[in-house]
Amino acid sequence: MHYSAKEAYQHESFAHNYERVRFSGLMGKYRNNLEQKAVGKLVEMLPSDISIADCPCGNGRWWPVLATRARRIVAVDVSEGMRRYASERARQSSIDIVVLGGSAEDLPVEDESVDYVFSHALTKHLPVPVQYQVLAEYSRVSKMGVICSFGVFTHLSYEFWRRRQLTESYPIFFEELKWMADWAGLEIRKMIRCTTPIGVENVVLFEKI
Ligand SMILES: C[S@@+](CC[C@H](N)C(=O)[O-])C[C@H]1O[C@@H](n2cnc3c(N)ncnc32)[C@H](O)[C@@H]1O
Repeated sequence: MHYSAKEAYQHESFAHNYERVRFSGLMGKYRNNLEQKAVGKLVEMLPSDISIADCPCGNGRWWPVLATRARRIVAVDVSEGMRRYASERARQSSIDIVVLGGSAEDLPVEDESVDYVFSHALTKHLPVPVQYQVLAEYSRVSKMGVICSFGVFTHLSYEFWRRRQLTESYPIFFEELKWMADWAGLEIRKMIRCTTPIGVENVVLFEKI
């Protein structure tokens, strides 16, 4: 199934400018702060000394947070530019990080070979059937669970989204997230909203059933 996020980040300049473009200005700093807090809280709930698959790893910006729990990170991204930049970051890290090319729908990772999967800012770009496929794939490779962000509607954000007629943006309702978890053999343990009132971002901790 086609979606633009798969090709949109191929150039290395995206990796260089990623944080500067998204998180500058008052609003950007506010959003970044919410995201960091939400992800930080869920990562704190994981056991220590674990292995984590980070997909999509992008430029590796979450590794300092993941390294508070992980001794090993398997990082996957479809973009060669992102991987090149992330590989440089991996060389400077104090923990073991391997960067692989691959797609979230078909991870180059064996069944249950990592403790957790971490995935931020991908599923909102994926058509809903692909979201099902990707969450099931994360479940396949993880022994314990998954932390993954989703666009989840509130009444207000649904109204805003409907009026703006956004394309290539695929938030879902909470009911659908529960069906998706069920389909993937996961259950939702905690979900934290990390967005402005009209936004849809949520970070979700799932555990294997
Ligand atoms: C918005 S960025 C998020 C990166 C990182 N998780 C973060 O929070 O900074 C989206 C990333 O998804 C990658 N991507 C898009 N489709 C993908 C897919 N099917 N499999 C793996 N990576 C994908 C892009 O190359 C890009 O690096």
